[in-house]
Amino acid sequence: MNPSTETAPASHEQEAAIGAPLPHESAELHVSGEACYTDDLPELAGTLHAALGLSRHAHARIVSLDLRAVREAPGVVAVLTAADIPGENNCGPVVHDDPILAIDTVQYLGQPIFAVVARTHELARRAAALAKSDDVVRYAELEAVLTAAAARDRKSYVLPPLHLERGAPARNIAAAPYRLAGEFEVGGQEQFYLESQVAYAVPKEGGSMLVYSSTQHPSEMQQVVAHMLDWPANHVTCECRRMGGGFGGKESQSAVFACLAALAAHKLQRPVKLRPDRDDDFMITGKRHDAVYRYEAGFDDEGRILGARIEIALRAGYSADLSGAVATRALCHVDNAYFLPDVEIIALSCKTNTQSNTAFRGFGGPQGALVTEVMMDGIARTLGRDPLDVRMANYYGIGERDVTPYGQRVEDNILAPLTAQLLASSDYHARRRALAQFNATSPVLKRGLAFTPVKFGISFNVPFLNQAGALVHVYRDGSVLVNHGGTEMGQGLNTKVAQVVANEFGLPLTQVRVTATDTSKVANTSATAASTGSDLNGKAAQAAARKIRDRLAELVARTLGGNAGDVRFEHCTVSTVDGAMPFTQLVNAAYLARVQLWSDGFYATPKVHWNAQTLRGHPFYYFAYGAAVSEVVVDTLTGEYKLVRADLLHDVGQSINPAIDLGQIEGGFIQGMGWLTTEELWWDRDGRLMTHAPSTYKIPAVSDTPACFNVQIYRNENVEPTVYLSKAVGEPPLLLSFSVFLAIADAIAAAVPDAPAPPALRAPATPEAVLDALDALAGGAYDPIATNAALSTDSTTNGVREHVSVSGTD
Ligand code: MTE
Ligand code: HPA
Ligand code: MOS
Repeated sequence: MNPSTETAPASHEQEAAIGAPLPHESAELHVSGEACYTDDLPELAGTLHAALGLSRHAHARIVSLDLRAVREAPGVVAVLTAADIPGENNCGPVVHDDPILAIDTVQYLGQPIFAVVARTHELARRAAALAKSDDVVRYAELEAVLTAAAARDRKSYVLPPLHLERGAPARNIAAAPYRLAGEFEVGGQEQFYLESQVAYAVPKEGGSMLVYSSTQHPSEMQQVVAHMLDWPANHVTCECRRMGGGFGGKESQSAVFACLAALAAHKLQRPVKLRPDRDDDFMITGKRHDAVYRYEAGFDDEGRILGARIEIALRAGYSADLSGAVATRALCHVDNAYFLPDVEIIALSCKTNTQSNTAFRGFGGPQGALVTEVMMDGIARTLGRDPLDVRMANYYGIGERDVTPYGQRVEDNILAPLTAQLLASSDYHARRRALAQFNATSPVLKRGLAFTPVKFGISFNVPFLNQAGALVHVYRDGSVLVNHGGTEMGQGLNTKVAQVVANEFGLPLTQVRVTATDTSKVANTSATAASTGSDLNGKAAQAAARKIRDRLAELVARTLGGNAGDVRFEHCTVSTVDGAMPFTQLVNAAYLARVQLWSDGFYATPKVHWNAQTLRGHPFYYFAYGAAVSEVVVDTLTGEYKLVRADLLHDVGQSINPAIDLGQIEGGFIQGMGWLTTEELWWDRDGRLMTHAPSTYKIPAVSDTPACFNVQIYRNENVEPTVYLSKAVGEPPLLLSFSVFLAIADAIAAAVPDAPAPPALRAPATPEAVLDALDALAGGAYDPIATNAALSTDSTTNGVREHVSVSGTD
């Protein structure tokens, strides 16, 4: 079966065919508002509401904490501090350096110090706001380190530096015909899930607890709550029906909310809900790591890299959280699609007095690959070549030049055919010529075009995390219930898993339901992360379904005759060469014959291994590929720009559901574009995050989608035996957005054609950053008229928006 975007939309009454573009299993609930999120759960009688009192300083000693005024505030039932925690005061996932509530010192502005529990959400928030009063918390300020560069310069890290070296990069750079050295920086990114963090804890009999949590990692929530209460894990259950988005922000950082709701519920023996409002969520939780880079490359006259050195300083924030794995993934994605023969890569997890940065779609991969793409552009401009040609000259080869810096061979390389297909479908070369013509006659508006490829490693880069379990129940009426360890955050995991199970039994999707994720059903699950949700849980659910199917097939062979191995499950019917019967009838017969109609399934990804000391191994089961061509128009007077056209071609192996995969490709691209263009996190000099709401933090809107948006799935099959030969799709397409950023840089370069150096555009490329880059390139204040004096100036100077409304139809 071929994945095809042209397949007619199937109704979900139809068979749950693998490769059919079926709608998301909750699509109707999403749009009707019936889908139940954690905050929608009907509140039990006696439910109380919690809110958090936050630190006002980035780094300070708590001199005194006087909570009388908070306790006496209207509606307050209790106020809890670190002293109320019976077990471990930690919610850090790897290193135990993350206090649930600050004790003695605060390490970032926004850190929770106490929890208020009140009759209503509003009253809890009002009382918690008293944390701003000097009468409540007194501090002695300590020196705060706020930026990655500052922490790097004083060698202050949350974890030891990672250092990977192959060959003799320094020697090769020195001996190369051409050299380029530079610095670069990229901002962080707030996950901005539509549903904020939330937890609802319900005490149960005999000292046990049920925690509903909006989390990508129910097993981790169970663990941290149990450790905090000093209970065995079997006393804590965590459940998550769905999230309104996670994007990595709920992989570890749902913990502080789960813990504090559970602590309050335990102390008061009442159900307690904790839902921070958007501003508090921004102030408390970590984001994508921003980064500063230094790089150096030596290359030949075709732009082929002979040696490279790259240092990535990631802002980890005050604690380790997942920064070790993020830095490792950054290190393993510096190569992106390119063979770097002799190379040195350093990744630093810089300790700063800011929120503890965490997972965000791509998990350090985007931060690793971006600097190399910037370097590719720099090399091309140094040589006066099209960046496309330099990229292709550096591509991984097949059977040669195919070993990554960390020692894994690239065995599934499809970069060349994928690139060729996209260059043709996007009409790259003709548009490159048209752009040059346009720019030659347009003094103010400049167009830019960029092609960028993606190669993204799939698997958790911590090998033991690559495991999953599932339970499949077939009821007497033939309906099927599936539970697996993954979580649904909008990405369509439950739809894909249901399709896999339905397909095993030859049933329509309507006959299969997936339940909420629940730690009492599948134990010791991994986070739904690293894009592995359907790879892992799809395989586990398939294994469970196959066990039941095999038992049914045996029964059929016994009753109808023939071989169990030849029994077919199709169209709600089970058949052998000698006869057939409806699935439902067989299931009931199996029940009466005392055949087990439910089963577990387990999957562990083969082949993956990693040596954390040498930073060598085979961390990824396979790679996902893609490429994008983006075209922008930039107004060089205002720095504003518009993405006018984007062509994406992305590899998802053999798609289980092309409708869902296309949604992931488009969403990932647009989300990445937000990171590199408009989403700017800005801390003041005291370490106070000033952009903590949509009023000041600009995520892309519908109107930022390009008028011409061509998104295609590349026809391919995984070379590894993944579930139906599909590939993970959640994160890799985010990197396709590099093409937008580099198209803006291309337009800037076109504005100053004789510039001695490549443009130095920082990310995000806000209009301010664009103007700064123009000024830097022009060696002073950029003046479009003077710079373009030689051009014919008959084209008008109307701004980007008007221009685009005219040209967007092309
Ligand atoms: N898509 C939606 N709609 N919402 C999300 O929160 N998270 C992304 C991606 N796509 C996300 C999403 C991230 S960070 C990951 S790791 C994957 O989905 C996780 O799901 P998967 O492994 O099932 O693809
Ligand atoms: N992605 C997401 N989470 C992780 C990873 C990863 O690669 N490794 C460990 N936790
Ligand atoms: Mo995704 S960043 O691995 O949750």
